[in-house]
Amino acid sequence: MLLGVNIDHVATLRNARGGVEPSVFDAAKICETLNVSGITTHLREDRRHIKDEDVFLIKEKISTRLNLEMAMTEEMKRIALELKPAACCIVPEKRQEVTTEGGLDVAGQVKKAVEFVKPLNDAGIVVSMFIDPDKDQIDATLEAKAPFIELHTGAYSNEFGTDLEEEEFQKLKMAAIYAQKYGLKVNAGHGLDYKNVHRMHEIPNIIELNIGHSIISRAVFVGLEKAIIEMKELIK
Ligand code: PXP
Repeated sequence: MLLGVNIDHVATLRNARGGVEPSVFDAAKICETLNVSGITTHLREDRRHIKDEDVFLIKEKISTRLNLEMAMTEEMKRIALELKPAACCIVPEKRQEVTTEGGLDVAGQVKKAVEFVKPLNDAGIVVSMFIDPDKDQIDATLEAKAPFIELHTGAYSNEFGTDLEEEEFQKLKMAAIYAQKYGLKVNAGHGLDYKNVHRMHEIPNIIELNIGHSIISRAVFVGLEKAIIEMKELIK
């Protein structure tokens, strides 16, 4: 399994004082030096953490694959087509949420999804749909012709260590197997940490995990380099 590091929360900390420290670019450089498979940034509509200049600078100067998380809006499509990241992960977005709360409802907006994904596919950007482990959402992703899903692991992560862990885990596993059967490639992420990540090995053929909050939190105490190395060890 590969590790994509989400560095949004370096920007959260930077923006707390409105200055330039800690540098998102320096965080991206560390990711590049450590050969992570991807650098993930969520350019939110309200720009609460990552800003446009961050993603353009990373794309220009860093060789690691850039995975741009973004909402299904015209503004974001325009930015993605200009930026040309290696990958785009389409996520739902609500202004009031603290973080991405649930998967994207692709099934409820298939036509919009088809029209949204096509120009990104045509531009050579690898699109994934961030969805809950649900067959209808997988079927809709197939219709939308996105080659990847990213399974939302938030419910599993929240229930880790409780009686509901197994149920949530099995949903992820079944969804991954179902999606792969129909030719989709599968990533996963959200809420994964140093304690719960190991079960992702029990799901066949997951390509990449996108992990942010736990790595950046650990980095506060041990440094970003060590935090990433430790996570790489757990998922390799
Ligand atoms: N994947 C997606 C699509 C996300 O929106 C996020 C959060 O921005 C993550 C992965 C990473 O989640 P976390 O920060 O909880 O590791």
